[in-house]
Amino acid sequence: MTSVCQQSLFCPTTEEFVLPVFHGNDRVEWFLQLSDQIIWDIADKDTGEPRARITMNPGDVAAMPADIRHKGFSQKRSMLLVWENATPDLPKRYESGELPANPIQF
Ligand SMILES: [Fe+2]
Repeated sequence: MTSVCQQSLFCPTTEEFVLPVFHGNDRVEWFLQLSDQIIWDIADKDTGEPRARITMNPGDVAAMPADIRHKGFSQKRSMLLVWENATPDLPKRYESGELPANPIQF
């Protein structure tokens, strides 16, 4: 199920067990963990070199950078809300360096 509001895609999903493939991002994805838990293995998008493993619990929010690939594992069915900006030229703008891969600087 997806709600589409112009270029905004809001996708509540259910995740269970290991997602079958690494998903390579071409833009930032925002994750809001709604229930249960997902463990994410995050690697460099191009080289596959591991960068992080994060555990998301209910209420956790993560901004997945535009230059990563990721694969999730959920011990039981969990709810995850994914938000993406579907503006068509975003992948080109990230690849050129016009936009930073991380949407937040701490
Ligand atoms: Fe992704």
